[in-house]
Amino acid sequence: MPIRSRITGTGMAVPECVVTNELLSRCMSTSDEWIVQRTGIRERRVSPDTYRMLLRLAEAPDKTAFMRDVQARGLDGNIDSSLTVSDLAVEASRMALKNAGLSPADLDCIVESSTLPDFAYPATGCVTQGKLGLTTTPVFNLAQGCAGFVYGLALADQFIRGGMYKRVLVIGAELLSSAFDYTDAGRDMAILFADGGGAAVLEAHEATGAEPRGLISHHLHSDGSAIDALMGEIWGSSTFPPVSKKKIDDGRPWPRMNGRAVFVHAVRRVREVVQESLDANGLLADDIDLFIFHQANLRIVESMAESFKISESRMHNNIQRYGNTAGASVPICLHEAVMGGRMKEGDLVMLVAFGTGFSWGATLLRW
Ligand code: COA
Repeated sequence: MPIRSRITGTGMAVPECVVTNELLSRCMSTSDEWIVQRTGIRERRVSPDTYRMLLRLAEAPDKTAFMRDVQARGLDGNIDSSLTVSDLAVEASRMALKNAGLSPADLDCIVESSTLPDFAYPATGCVTQGKLGLTTTPVFNLAQGCAGFVYGLALADQFIRGGMYKRVLVIGAELLSSAFDYTDAGRDMAILFADGGGAAVLEAHEATGAEPRGLISHHLHSDGSAIDALMGEIWGSSTFPPVSKKKIDDGRPWPRMNGRAVFVHAVRRVREVVQESLDANGLLADDIDLFIFHQANLRIVESMAESFKISESRMHNNIQRYGNTAGASVPICLHEAVMGGRMKEGDLVMLVAFGTGFSWGATLLRW
C-alpha cells in the first residue's frame, strides 16, 4: 500500500499588536485609501517592539532622524527584541501539535522556513526545536521567503513517502516588521509586510481508495537571476564586515523591492505554476474546491481569480487583516480555512506561493 502524507493538525500565531493604515499614515506619506486600493490591506500584526516604535515615530517631528536614532541606539537604548520569530514558530507549532493530538516528542523531523532568523546562526529551526523541549529531533532550515511553507511541505512529503519519517512538522514563521524603514523612503515595503507564524503536522497514512487523502503533488521553481527585485541585505557575507556603521549610514540594512517587477513576475509565475499543477494532475481549475494563495497583495490574488475564474467561495484570503506575512501567510490561511470548516473530506485544495529569490511553487492535496 503506498504511503501518503496527510495534514493532521494546523496552527497559527500572530502578535497582539494591530497596526492600522491610519497609524502608518501618521509615520509616512501614505493613506488608508492608497494602501487598501493597491494592496487590499486594512491592518496587520507586528511585534510589540515595532508597535512601540511606530507609536513613537508617529509623534516624532523628524521621522528620518528618529529612525536613524533607533538604528544607532535601539529603542530607548535597548536592542533586545521582546518577541522573536522562533517565539511565533513555537506558538504556531504547539497549536498544530495539539490539533493533531501529538506532543513535540512524537515528531520525527521539523522543517522550518523563516526569512529573517533569530540569529545569523544557529538557524531558527534549531532555536524553535530547543524551545519545544526537543534535543535530538532533526531540523531542516529553509530560507525560501514567501514560498517557504510550500517548499517545506514538498520536502516533508518526500521524507514521509520515502519511509524515512512518519511525522514531520512544517513551519513558516516570519518576523519582518522590525527591519523596515517606516519613513517615506521605505513606504513601499513597510505597508505590505507583517509578522506571524503558521505550522502543519504531516503524518504518514496508507493510501486507500481511488482518491486517497493527502498531499498529491508539488511543483517548485526558483529564478536566481532576479535577486535584486526583492532583497534584504540586513547582514550577510555580501558586505565586509556583515554589520558596520557605514552599512547603516548608507541605508543598506533596509530591505528593497522593485514593486512593479515583483508584481509582474508574481502574476506570471503564479499563473504558470497553477496551470502546471492542474496539467500534471489532469485537472481543470474548476475541479479545485479551495485555492489558498500566498497573501502578497490582494490585486495579485484577484488577478489569479480572474484568470482561472475562481469565485470568492473557492478562495481563502486574509491579507485584509494580516498583511503579507511572507512564508507564514499560506499556513495561516490554511489554519483559518481548516478552523472555519472551509474544506470537507475529499476536497481538492491548492496552495500556491511566490516570493523573494524568486522562488515559487504549488502543492495540490486532497483533504
Ligand atoms: N503610499 C503612498 N504612495 C506610495 C506608497 C505608499 N505606501 N508606496 C509607493 N508609493 C508611490 C510611489 O512612490 C509612486 O509615486 P511616484 O509615481 O510619484 O513615483 C506611486 O506610489 C506609484 O508607485 P508604484 O510602485 O507604481 O505603485 P504600484 O501600483 O505598483 O503599487 C506596490 C506599489 C508595492 C503596492 C505594488 O507594486 C505591489 O504590490 N507590488 C508587488 C509587491 C509584492 O507583492 N511583494 C511581495 C512579494 S512576496
